[in-house]
Amino acid sequence: MLVTPRHSSTNEWPVRAIRNEGDRIAVDLDNGSQGRLSTRWLRLACECDVCGDTASGKRWLTPAGVPARVQATALDVSAAEVSVFWDDGHVSRYGSDFLAGHAGGGSGPARFRPQLWSSDLGGKLGRFAFDAVVEEDKALFGSLRALRDHGIAMLTGVPADPEATVRVAGRYGPIRETSYGKVFDLISRPDARVAGETARAQIPHTDEPFRYSPPGFIFFHAIRTGAGSGGTSLMVDGFHVAETMRTSTPELFDLLTRHGVTFQREHAGEVFFSAEAHVISLDASGAVTGIRYNDRCLAPQTAPLDRIDGLIEALAELTRLIRDPQNQFQHQLQPGEVLVFDNQRVMHGRSAFDPTLAVRHLRSCNIDRDGVHSVFRTLARRFAPQEAEAVFYQGAIF
Ligand SMILES: [Fe+2]
Repeated sequence: MLVTPRHSSTNEWPVRAIRNEGDRIAVDLDNGSQGRLSTRWLRLACECDVCGDTASGKRWLTPAGVPARVQATALDVSAAEVSVFWDDGHVSRYGSDFLAGHAGGGSGPARFRPQLWSSDLGGKLGRFAFDAVVEEDKALFGSLRALRDHGIAMLTGVPADPEATVRVAGRYGPIRETSYGKVFDLISRPDARVAGETARAQIPHTDEPFRYSPPGFIFFHAIRTGAGSGGTSLMVDGFHVAETMRTSTPELFDLLTRHGVTFQREHAGEVFFSAEAHVISLDASGAVTGIRYNDRCLAPQTAPLDRIDGLIEALAELTRLIRDPQNQFQHQLQPGEVLVFDNQRVMHGRSAFDPTLAVRHLRSCNIDRDGVHSVFRTLARRFAPQEAEAVFYQGAIF
């Protein structure tokens, strides 16, 4: 049975005709191509009032509620809509765009491909004014695109008061409260509790890899900086470093994607975090989705004797690449600048500074990654609908 639209098809409505083939529904697209959908899939895709909708979760039809041999008894195509009459009496209606999108190849929404960088980030780094980002959704969206592409962006002209830090960071999602509080003042001090409070150099790292779910995006708000006395920020694209390893030392890269590495943090009597995870997370297609690494939090590792040296060599090679200035974007933060970066992609560190010459004061806070990506998708629905459903790299999740 071939069904064609009651109204003549225009380019606006991509389905020209559909055909019932039993356990498949064939779809002829207006662009001349053809596709097939599983009949069982199509029944499960119904989002009528009875079946409920998957976006809100007010959903009542389950996969078990669709008979394996469900059949369509009649099909009806109008310009914008396709109606399917099922053998149990149910009627489903689907948007022509929806059917065409899924019949077009079945691979689903595109996977987003990050743009990798090394010491050359300066020319590409997105810079966004505080006033615009807090007041205009379009400017906020622009900065979120930069975060998606490069994993890092800079905000400028941010006032020094703590309210301003919270106000701008809060635009990107709810601020995560941790055992260090909501907003953390990182000031060099003699009784340093964490390495960030010393004046020593820090090898670029991701923060808090000892948590099962490390911080998503980090905000570094420069209040006072030791300009001229060191303390230069060193930023590294962990995805670029991972791809370098994949090419140059594939066996070491492979180890970091498969072998669990343990990171820890203990302040006696107060907190004791410990997490075993892969340093490099891959998705099902083999693409890098997240990085988790801080040399200062590595616990004594466990591995059979014949494998432990290989694991240490993989960690050593990663550390060498992270320390290589060719892989580092170096920037001396100025008061009023905020660096925002994806803590499961971009590694941050700094050169040593002389605490007797300048006080270095950064204020920092964290936003969960899925919160930031949710703000991105919500704004993309308004400003760039074609970008709203791309699958993002989802972080250090394994
Ligand atoms: Fe850090």
